[in-house]
Amino acid sequence: MHSIQDVKNDQSLLLSVQHLHIENERKEVLVNNLNFDLHVGETVAIVGESGSGKSISGLALLGLLPENLTVTGQALYDEQNLLSLNQNAQLAIRGKKIAMIFQEPMTALNPLHKVERIIGETLLLDGMSKEKVRKRVYDLLCDVGMDEPEDKLNRYPHELSGGQRQRVLIASVLAQKPEIIIADEPTTALDVTLQSQVLNLLQLLILNHKMAMILVSHDLNLVRKYANQVIVMNQGQVEEKGTVRNIFQNPKASYTQYLLDHDFGEANALPHKRNLVLSLHRVGV
Ligand SMILES: Nc1ncnc2c1ncn2[C@@H]1O[C@H](COP(=O)(O)OP(=O)(O)OP(=O)(O)O)[C@@H](O)[C@H]1O
Ligand SMILES: [Mg+2]
Repeated sequence: MHSIQDVKNDQSLLLSVQHLHIENERKEVLVNNLNFDLHVGETVAIVGESGSGKSISGLALLGLLPENLTVTGQALYDEQNLLSLNQNAQLAIRGKKIAMIFQEPMTALNPLHKVERIIGETLLLDGMSKEKVRKRVYDLLCDVGMDEPEDKLNRYPHELSGGQRQRVLIASVLAQKPEIIIADEPTTALDVTLQSQVLNLLQLLILNHKMAMILVSHDLNLVRKYANQVIVMNQGQVEEKGTVRNIFQNPKASYTQYLLDHDFGEANALPHKRNLVLSLHRVGV
């Protein structure tokens, strides 16, 4: 259990979530006693089946849950408890220090704006000149590995492929230079090759920019490849947590074993679909 002072003293500790608890208005527990630390350069994955409480855990950190849900516990970040911030303090952190990447970029991108404006809007609002913003947006598009970035500046989201849209979304998140990215199923809408490209990119950015990531995913192959720590959730309860190696090689909870037996993910998709019946163990987990 860390105090605010601990988080202040440990330069590498970005976020410490302690006893995160979420209930609905009927007092049903949706997340029970979630605890984890997030260090610079690290990816913590939250896995579990649909409805297990993965997304609401991420949303709670940003104060994005509706009022009918009650959140208690601590999420220590930058000498504050994210779970008890007032709205202004939340706005200073949301998107700027801690940003979220959602599954479907089309719904997250304004369809009426061109890429340059989508990525550069917050920079313009911060008072950066138009020329500087254009240069910065161009650099961000290069950072996220966009082909022909110059040409993409003037495109609308619908004129881009799914992978390109996801890159625009990531660039717009990076424009704010956040320290923590919460990526909620960031690649589910993408094909297998693009999934790996986007996750590789995020991992590289995290290491290069001293950031950290909370990766919400049901794809265990992706998690195995990109996370350091794994939290396994089941109906709001934490079944198990540990390093990727421990969770995959030596799962303690029967639920984790169940997930390993039933989820093949697609990150390492095999050429023929029928081969997917190979168990995770046989693909090298
Ligand atoms: N706004 C809300 N109001 C009431 N209950 C909610 C709300 N959002 C989520 N829940 C409930 O909280 C539980 C966890 O939901 P959550 O969205 O975190 O699941 P998840 O693990 O992200 O699932 P999925 O993999 O399907 O995205 C579910 O029982 C869900 O019905
Ligand atoms: Mg979810």
